[in-house]
Amino acid sequence: MNVFKNKADLTNHINGLKFEQKSLGFVPTMGALHQGHASLVNKGLEDNDVVVVSVFVNPTQFDNEDDLIKYPRTLDEDVQLLSEISEDRIIVYAPTVKDIYGKTVASTSFSFDGLEHEMEGRFRDGHFDGVGTIVKRLFEIVKPDNAYFGEKDFQQLMIIKTLVEKHKMPINIVGCKIHRAEDGLAMSSRNTRLEPKYRKVAPFIYKTLKSAKKKFGTESANKVTEWVIKQFAEHNLLKLEYFIIADAKTLKTVKRKSNQKSYRAFIAVYAGDIRLIDNIALN
Ligand code: PAJ
Repeated sequence: MNVFKNKADLTNHINGLKFEQKSLGFVPTMGALHQGHASLVNKGLEDNDVVVVSVFVNPTQFDNEDDLIKYPRTLDEDVQLLSEISEDRIIVYAPTVKDIYGKTVASTSFSFDGLEHEMEGRFRDGHFDGVGTIVKRLFEIVKPDNAYFGEKDFQQLMIIKTLVEKHKMPINIVGCKIHRAEDGLAMSSRNTRLEPKYRKVAPFIYKTLKSAKKKFGTESANKVTEWVIKQFAEHNLLKLEYFIIADAKTLKTVKRKSNQKSYRAFIAVYAGDIRLIDNIALN
């Protein structure tokens, strides 16, 4: 498995692949890889000759210093997981902060047509400027044909689609289904940091989303939202940060349901000091 630590070596290798007219898929990650990431890599391998996986904990997208410091860093295990998927068709790019940002670790500011002000943008200050900065930079380095993003971070996926449109980048963005543990909890690198008592109750999040979906068939968005808030108010371990039913295109909170639109429910929950997010298509 080729593991590159700097962009000069990676670019060199990629130029060779492009010369051979190989198609290139790209899966950007922050590492601590799990089966959710693996599902994106597998989709990439179906569609492309070679898949680049970047492993980089991007400092500019964290609004919480403690979360950045404690974010799991497990490069050896990540490379192992990837080499079990394919030894010769996956390339890892695991740069240092300096290789990506040089001396100034800062994000540029973006407009994503208002998508950036909803949900995660509202609760995590500067988060999507950080995501936009790193993903644009990685796209410029890797120059993939296709790039894969999980619906787990649905708002991020929509924002990346807007990013490539606005900057006229010739990259096809592919959205991939949420991969879940057997008990329904959406897989996340942060799950490894859950204390057992929180890990045990965390599937309550998806269970509540599924019930909300059912209720949304017959009840108003407001009623369903109130019901969800009540479920978490009565829960003694999980703390709801937000539950929002939104238009799946604009991500604006729905006021009045229309049959022509698709809706999605989004949730952020604290399990102790670990923040978990999830979402579900409602119709
Ligand atoms: P990270 O959280 O490591 O996720 C990398 C990719 O894997 C994202 O596209 C995310 O949506 C996807 N993913 C994570 N868990 C998933 C699951 N359970 N099912 C399906 N897909 C899943 O998202 C980031 O990193 C960063 O913001 C990044 C885009 C790399 C920029 O720094």
